Amino acid sequence: MSKAIGSKYSIESSKQAEEFYHYVKDLLDSDIVNEMKKYRHHYSTTCYQHCLNVSYYNYLICRKLGLDAKKAARAGILHDLFLYDWRETPRKKGEKPHGMRHPQIALENAKQNFAVSKREEDMIVKHMWPLTLKFPRYAESYVIVVTDKYAAILEIGTHVKGKIRNFIASA
Ligand SMILES: [Fe+2]
Ligand SMILES: [Fe+2]
Repeated sequence: MSKAIGSKYSIESSKQAEEFYHYVKDLLDSDIVNEMKKYRHHYSTTCYQHCLNVSYYNYLICRKLGLDAKKAARAGILHDLFLYDWRETPRKKGEKPHGMRHPQIALENAKQNFAVSKREEDMIVKHMWPLTLKFPRYAESYVIVVTDKYAAILEIGTHVKGKIRNFIASA
């Protein structure tokens, strides 16, 4: 059973997440998306969990705003499909830093494995904006810029909370 951090609803079995799950099930069932479970992203959160968090909040916000919630959900799952541990992968000579190059790597991996629309492509490749300089083209791309940061804050908060809880338990 999986959940987005901060949500009480099971992605696979709750009525509230039914539409969301229907939109992303094929991605969540794929080997390449599950490979993200091997890589740590923000502290104790894996890339897989981070992408699920971004996807779910992207979906909720875009649905609320009358934007394309399905594409928002799918791009969220794929936006960090770069498949390496960025802490342990030294940058090769001439390569851009991880923060700037991983959206393009994620897009290439996504396109090799799934049908990716122009809107989803823009969401994936611009999610680090303004670090990636080109302006987002669609409203959904601005939403993912925000949800990506929001998810990172949630994940760091969860990590800090765990540390404090452990500290109190051992005091
Ligand atoms: Fe990213
Ligand atoms: Fe991300």
